[in-house]
Amino acid sequence: MSILGYALLAYVIGSIPSGLIIGKLFFNTDVRLYGSKNIGATNTYRVIGLKAALPVFFCDALKGAIGVLLFSSLNPMYMILGGILAMVGHNWSLFLGFKGGRGVATGLGVLVALSPIVAGLCFAIWGIIVYFTKLVSLGSIVAAALVPILMYVTGESWWFVGFGVLAALFVIVRHRENISRLLAGKELKVERVKKGE
Ligand code: G3P
Repeated sequence: MSILGYALLAYVIGSIPSGLIIGKLFFNTDVRLYGSKNIGATNTYRVIGLKAALPVFFCDALKGAIGVLLFSSLNPMYMILGGILAMVGHNWSLFLGFKGGRGVATGLGVLVALSPIVAGLCFAIWGIIVYFTKLVSLGSIVAAALVPILMYVTGESWWFVGFGVLAALFVIVRHRENISRLLAGKELKVERVKKGE
C-alpha cells in the first residue's frame, strides 16, 4: 500500500467510535445522550460503568498506537503523521459527521508507541490530578499541555516536540466546553450518573 493509503487507513481507524459502538452493541446505550455527552472512556464510565469504560479506553488507545505502527517501517516523521491522523480521526470522525471525542486515550496510545517514557509520565500526572480532583478533563488538559515539554526534557527530537505541540492543541481544542465548565466551577466529575442526567 502507498503512504497515502496508510495515511487514510490511520484516519479511518482513528474514526472508529469505540465508545458509541461498545455502548450501543453491548449495553444498548448511546453515551452521547447522557453525562458530558462525549463518546470517550470517561463519559462511558459515567453512563455505563467500568465494564464498558475499560474496553473503550483500551480500543481508543489501540487506535492511536496502530496509527503510529502502520508507519513503523518508515522514519519517525511518518510515525508521527500516522499518530496525528489517528487522533484527527478520533476527534473529527468520518463516521460521526466529523464530530468525535477529545483525543485523550487515542493520544495516549500514540504516545505509548512514540515515547513510552513520556506516555508513562503523562499518565502518572493525569492519574494524580484525577485522584485528587475527580476532574478527568483537568488531568487531560494538564497532561496534554506537558507533552511537548516532556518530549523536550527527555531528549526526544524536535519532530517529537512538534508532535507534542500539535497533539496538545488537538486535545485542548476539543476540551473547550470542559474549559468553560471548569472556569464556571460546573465541570462534571468522574462519577456515575443516572440515565437522563
Ligand atoms: O478524555 C476525556 C476527558 O478529558 C473529559 O471527558 O466526558 O468529562 O468531557 P468528559
